[in-house]
Amino acid sequence: MSSRSTVILGTGSYAPERILTNDDLAHMVETSDEWIRTRSGIRERRVAAPNESTSDMAVHAARRALEDAGLTAAEIDLLVVATVTPDMPMPACACLVQHKLGLPTTAACFDLNAACSGFVYALDTACAMIGSGRYRKALVVGVEKLSAVMDWQDRTTCVLFGDGAGAVVVGASSEPDLGLIGTRLGTYGDGADLLYISHGGSNAPSTAESIGRRDHCIRMKGKEVFKLAVRAMDDAARDILEQHQIRADQISLVIPHQANLRIIEAISQYLELPMERFFVNVDRYGNTSAASIPIALDEARKAGRIKPGDLTLLVAFGAGLTYGSALLRW
Ligand SMILES: CC(C)(COP(=O)(O)OP(=O)(O)OC[C@H]1O[C@@H](n2cnc3c(N)ncnc32)[C@H](O)[C@@H]1OP(=O)(O)O)[C@@H](O)C(=O)NCCC(=O)NCCS
Repeated sequence: MSSRSTVILGTGSYAPERILTNDDLAHMVETSDEWIRTRSGIRERRVAAPNESTSDMAVHAARRALEDAGLTAAEIDLLVVATVTPDMPMPACACLVQHKLGLPTTAACFDLNAACSGFVYALDTACAMIGSGRYRKALVVGVEKLSAVMDWQDRTTCVLFGDGAGAVVVGASSEPDLGLIGTRLGTYGDGADLLYISHGGSNAPSTAESIGRRDHCIRMKGKEVFKLAVRAMDDAARDILEQHQIRADQISLVIPHQANLRIIEAISQYLELPMERFFVNVDRYGNTSAASIPIALDEARKAGRIKPGDLTLLVAFGAGLTYGSALLRW
């Protein structure tokens, strides 16, 4: 555990203006609003403008989080950007965000790729660095422009994902047992072939042929991912509760990764916690991968669903296959 408490000082989020509804998608691929709603709970998702980059969205969310925390960019000495859709492979998206936000050149800035678990991984990383005493104030951003890696002809994926950004500011507190109480992170690397982008990396650089096959886009074995997602998120939630001797009913709000309403409902059943204790916005945004939890966290806070003293559980699952949970006291 870290030597001092690390707390969330502010949150912010950003969703691109353009809304793509299920009916819009039904004009693009053979699908229907009814199929998408009943299988996933998604009604609409946001799509970034062509000239709106991942770093642009990150900057919007980060500015809002800074404002919420009452801090300026000059006070940030650490930036972790969780994303699988950086503006470009190199340099890191965090470097572009640093420049656009005007963070000090003495700030440590890097990207972290843990797919849909990215925000929980990044929060743990930033809190450990702040807890060490070597950094003072961190920005943790989860952001994705998944529309750029969507195969808009593949109905098994294109109906599920969306774009957006969420951010938090993290700092230290002398008050004990506040903020990040603990995390439980893990990986099933043997499931790497269930959710992936095969081309565009060093193993298989993009070619004219691979682009033609849209191999630079997300592919997924949905049924297998569904089963593993439920199991891993349930395990991650149970483990952390057990580790900290907390009963599920002491959690006032669970903020799960927003991939699919049925996955969230299954976890609610397994944990024997009613759906009222789960924050859900997958209907409005779809799966925004690393952005999903920080957007939900920001909306939950601003809707008054998190009060001082509350225990909140974050739980995520994503490509890798990665998973993670985090327990927060406010
Ligand atoms: C993708 C997912 C919604 C599919 O639901 P499902 O209950 O497994 O699907 P079903 O078995 O009911 O239906 C599959 C059929 O629907 C078809 N189908 C797939 N996408 C469709 C769409 N958008 N519209 C209409 N039909 C579709 C398939 O081709 C398949 O047809 P077939 O049986 O003739 O082969 C579900 O598996 C899922 O959510 N998986 C997890 C995905 C996820 O969350 N990934 C991210 C994790 S971070």
